[in-house]
Amino acid sequence: MSDPLLAWRNQFPIVDRTTYLISNSLGAMPEGASEALAEYAEMWDTSGIKAWEKGWWDIVTEIGDLAAPLLGAPPGTVVMQPSVTVASAIVRSCFDWAGHRNRIVHTELEFPSVMYLYAGAQAEGAEVVVVPTRGDGITVDLDQLLDAIDERTALVPISHVAFKSAFIQDAAAICEKAHRVGARVCLDVYQSAGVMPIEVEAWNADFAVGGCLKWLCGGPGNAFLYARRDLQERLEPQVTGWMAADEPFAFEPELTRADSVHRFLTGTPAVPAHMVARPGLEIVNRIGPAAIREKSVALTERIIERADRYGIDVATPREAERRGGTVTLAPPDSESIARQLLDEDILIDHRPGAGIRLAPHFYNSLDECDRAVDRIAELAPAPVGVSPGGDA
Ligand SMILES: Cc1ncc(COP(=O)(O)O)c(C=O)c1O
Repeated sequence: MSDPLLAWRNQFPIVDRTTYLISNSLGAMPEGASEALAEYAEMWDTSGIKAWEKGWWDIVTEIGDLAAPLLGAPPGTVVMQPSVTVASAIVRSCFDWAGHRNRIVHTELEFPSVMYLYAGAQAEGAEVVVVPTRGDGITVDLDQLLDAIDERTALVPISHVAFKSAFIQDAAAICEKAHRVGARVCLDVYQSAGVMPIEVEAWNADFAVGGCLKWLCGGPGNAFLYARRDLQERLEPQVTGWMAADEPFAFEPELTRADSVHRFLTGTPAVPAHMVARPGLEIVNRIGPAAIREKSVALTERIIERADRYGIDVATPREAERRGGTVTLAPPDSESIARQLLDEDILIDHRPGAGIRLAPHFYNSLDECDRAVDRIAELAPAPVGVSPGGDA
């Protein structure tokens, strides 16, 4: 089968040195990242303080605008942040948790850091409602989640794609219900941005948080926050700073907030990190999320089919429309198998209570997926012994 996206492999040197199936955790480094770092050093060295005027100040929105189309967001609605945790703290600080509408509703599948952060709002009067999985640790019943969102709910901070199981939540239905009862939604798109189409504007999400570290191949320190245009003039984040001011360089003792996405900033931006995000974002924009998704579904489908033939448990939804870019396999003794795979440069990761996560991206081949599953089957303590046969 010809696969035009494999032509991008030469831009990502590590994929030829390893079996790189870990893009849900750390996307492969594009060649352009080294040049971006060199450009940063050169600017600092040659321009000194003047580098701020030559693009450093604007980097948070310049890179945000590069991420925006991948989120289905218009320009001027996405701003870079140091981490999803910090971006979520800014969102959390837009609400008064001491009032009647004080509920936070999320699922058991959120990323722990985000759950810790929202649990902290209880000290300010919030009530946190955690909707459990169906008992499988993989999926959540949509009706149960929608029923939990009621007139007491202020915010629904929810993963679009769950980090352990890759379960896709119905973002449009969640936003519709939340808005019907007067609540807001903060979608965590960290596990979907760059590997599938996202439509934050069409879904009418209030906020989205995510980052470039994973499927966007942008390296660490590159989270982002989307804030719907109308909220940029209305909300008053209490986690704030001088970069959120209308005129930061007036250094006024009292904050006059910017009427733009800058309102959701805090302090000095992490310029080198954001510069490094540019090449990955440009590549993903050029390929486009629809083409990446089509390939991603084929790769994850292949992993599941092969795992099934070996009898390896799959801890990920089987229907492609409910599954993100990751497949979690749960053979017995998965943690030590994962360690062995890493020793052999088959790059995957392991999550307790879930299993081995395999996350192929546009630069991976079907053969690489097969290689990883075959090796897992060989290493499994009680080999199921069923040969995958042929080249299915
Ligand atoms: C869905 C999701 N949300 C949040 C995070 C954590 O983000 P950060 O470390 O930027 O706070 C992760 C990291 O793996 C994640 O997968």
